[in-house]
Amino acid sequence: MDIENEPVTVLGLGGMGTALARALLRAGHPVTIWNRTAARAEALVPEGARVAPDPAAAVAASPLTVVCLLDDAAVATVLDPLGDALAGAALVDLTSGTPEQARATAARLTARGAQVLSGTIMVPTPLVGTPDALVLYSGATAVHARHRATLEAFGRTDLLGADPGRAALFDLGMLDVFFAGLASFLHATALLGTDGITGAEFAPYAEQVVAILPEAFRGLAADVDAARYPGHEDNLVMDAAALGHIVATSRARGVDPALPDLVRRLAQRAIDRGHGADGFSRIVEEFGAATVARAS
Ligand SMILES: NC(=O)c1ccc[n+]([C@@H]2O[C@H](COP(=O)([O-])OP(=O)(O)OC[C@H]3O[C@@H](n4cnc5c(N)ncnc54)[C@H](OP(=O)(O)O)[C@@H]3O)[C@@H](O)[C@H]2O)c1
Repeated sequence: MDIENEPVTVLGLGGMGTALARALLRAGHPVTIWNRTAARAEALVPEGARVAPDPAAAVAASPLTVVCLLDDAAVATVLDPLGDALAGAALVDLTSGTPEQARATAARLTARGAQVLSGTIMVPTPLVGTPDALVLYSGATAVHARHRATLEAFGRTDLLGADPGRAALFDLGMLDVFFAGLASFLHATALLGTDGITGAEFAPYAEQVVAILPEAFRGLAADVDAARYPGHEDNLVMDAAALGHIVATSRARGVDPALPDLVRRLAQRAIDRGHGADGFSRIVEEFGAATVARAS
């Protein structure tokens, strides 16, 4: 079969499933669709999609099936009843969840004879199918190899390994950084707002900080991987003092200091364990047993 025009099935036509189906249609693929609420599927018919009457017929219609449902429970509700009808199917599950859920779903569906590539979409719906889109995959590497050209209709496709939980774990890692960044910007904006400084006035200065983060991340990563935390450029005593100023000023002005105080307390704990001359990367060990185990 000409892989460039291979038929693809999409199960789930919420905001993201619809964006995925549209990206496939735009790339010239024959697309079969199914959604629990039929009206959402019908909306794509004028654009060239073919509606299947049920999930089994949808999976049978194409050599590749993309699944994008609300959560892991919805995936089980839709796919588990198919039983042996999944034998030989190539499934790409782009439903977000935890690594453990991705592993359990992949194991269950693989036991029924399907090949399962798990994935996480790292962009909002408007970016799907653009050069800025990133989708992370892990699991059945053969599915990625065979259908990569098709999956590129969604955007950049990074294969992270054969463990189906790995893409979900990278997803959580990226979200961890994302939410912490957004929350700290909002905390800082609230703090500066106590002197009447607007968000717009402060934003360019926050961006200045963001610009130095990529190099800082690379330095932290090297320290963490080597389990060595040299305080060449900064040290925890100095870091804790700066964090203390943020906490004290927040408290004095009635701004909740919990966010910077969490970081200050992590730094203080490492200082109390005798690591005050180490760099900021040392606080990775304050996050718990798994990291300590890796470092030892
Ligand atoms: N939207 C984004 O920007 C974005 C970005 C990255 C990742 N994601 C991930 O993509 C996945 C889908 O997100 P979405 O934005 O498309 O969500 P959504 O708009 O809420 O759509 C949810 C989809 O799941 C279906 N569904 C829910 N429960 C079901 C059940 N019990 N049985 C059968 N179908 C069920 C819905 O069917 P009905 O139409 O019948 O309700 C719908 O097709 C999620 O895992 C989300 O985390 C989304």
